[in-house]
Amino acid sequence: MAEGDYRVADISLADFGRREIELAEYEMPGLMKTVEEFGKDKPLAGARIAGSLHMTIQTAVLIETLKKLGGDIRWCSCNIFSTQDHAAAAIARDGSAAVFAWKGETLEEYWECTMNAITWTTPDEGGDGPDMIIDDGGDMTLLIHEGKKAEDLFEKDGTVPDPASTDNAEFKLVLTMICRTLKTDPKKWNKIADRFIGVSEETTTGVHRLYQMQESNSLLFRAINVNDSVTKSKFDNLYGCKHSLPDALCRATDVMLAGKKALICGYGDVGKGCAFAMKAAGCITYVTEIDPICALQASMEGFPVVKFETVQSVVDIIVTTTGNKDIIRVEHMAAMKNNAIVSNIGHFDNEIQMEQLEAATTRFNIKPQVDKYVFPDGHGVIVLAEGRLMNLGCATGHPSFVMSNSFTNQTLAQIELWKERKTEKYQKGQVYVLPKVLDERVASYHLGALGVELTELTDDQAGYISVPKVGPFKPDTYRY
Ligand code: NAD
Ligand code: ADE
Repeated sequence: MAEGDYRVADISLADFGRREIELAEYEMPGLMKTVEEFGKDKPLAGARIAGSLHMTIQTAVLIETLKKLGGDIRWCSCNIFSTQDHAAAAIARDGSAAVFAWKGETLEEYWECTMNAITWTTPDEGGDGPDMIIDDGGDMTLLIHEGKKAEDLFEKDGTVPDPASTDNAEFKLVLTMICRTLKTDPKKWNKIADRFIGVSEETTTGVHRLYQMQESNSLLFRAINVNDSVTKSKFDNLYGCKHSLPDALCRATDVMLAGKKALICGYGDVGKGCAFAMKAAGCITYVTEIDPICALQASMEGFPVVKFETVQSVVDIIVTTTGNKDIIRVEHMAAMKNNAIVSNIGHFDNEIQMEQLEAATTRFNIKPQVDKYVFPDGHGVIVLAEGRLMNLGCATGHPSFVMSNSFTNQTLAQIELWKERKTEKYQKGQVYVLPKVLDERVASYHLGALGVELTELTDDQAGYISVPKVGPFKPDTYRY
């Protein structure tokens, strides 16, 4: 472990990281064009930005983009297995951000990394916290909210959070950390909440949490929902997973995909990408759904839509993509074929009943992030990345080009939040999506690299379909 105002696995990997970052930059034209366009004006000057998002090579390019725009950055990963250690090493060595991330963190280390990423070592008059965060899944947002809640209760009647009050192992760790800050700095989270401008959230599950907080009037700051930019969810979630699902299956198991039976749980954006990837690899591919619209879509693409129980004993590869809990249950796994491969590509690890599986089986490690869980009758299932998102646990996540789209949205969202921090454009407690004109701009940044020739409207045509010649080209209700 190497440490300074950073903590990474091995700083000597920095040269390797730098070479891969340079390759990735070439494949991330959206981020490069954003720097070209805004770099000289330093629109993020003075902004302290903390990130909780998979510390990969692609994220390294995002971090360096934010820095070139003037931001002061601290970072951690949003998953214990997703860090690419050479990316983290390059970012730490070259002073691009104070980074706290390595592949294979314990949960305790994970939350300590989050705490370090959100705590500046040089406090100013507003305290030691960030002005804005980039979150992926909402853990950093949760920490700020739980911290402030605890401080307010403590001030009111001296109540201290009780880690024993919850069965959730991660939440216990969060409460333990908050108890510590109550002693060292009982106003830490209130100071953060006071200075805080807003969050830009990367993923479906994190956005879902934000809307729940908006609904209950408990969201403390402004939020931009990056996931629902069209150039994010209809590209990263779909084409990204279409690429990184088979990549992870092959790196983890080397199993022949053609001819196998695959089951994809959920046919949303991620599920669609996963189902098409398995079909393209030659798998007989089944889908489960709860939503009649998505079920109809799957069926009309030729995927049999079934109940889990209908196919549980014949499928070879099972992938859950729902963002929901208890999708692959222990009784399903007990009924599976020997060596069935069980995995989750959704954000959190509660899609597979891992605790119940651990209790019912004996675990044999095959290699890092690949385990066989054997039932008392001798048959077993192979579980990837301990049930955590497998494309980042067993492979390197989505490739740079698709992440350039997601991260250009992130960068534009951060510029918007900072630029409008003193205006009424974004209200505290509310969640916004970026305007369509910015979404279209993100797409346009990526066309040149693919040799796309875009047709221009004539004045007459623009008038006929009632759209401005330069866009936006669709109403907000259009679904792509
Ligand atoms: P989505 O809402 O578009 O799709 C989820 C689908 O699951 C929906 O169609 C829903 O009807 C279905 N579903 C819900 N409960 C179900 C159940 N019990 N059985 C069957 N289907 C069910 O969401 P999405 O954008 O596809 O994202 C899915 C998850 O993947 C989220 O957790 C998201 O954060 C995550 N994600 C992961 C990556 C990655 O790289 N691993 C990338 C993007 C998103
Ligand atoms: N999410 C999916 N793939 C990713 C990647 N390569 N980097 C960061 N976040 C990701």
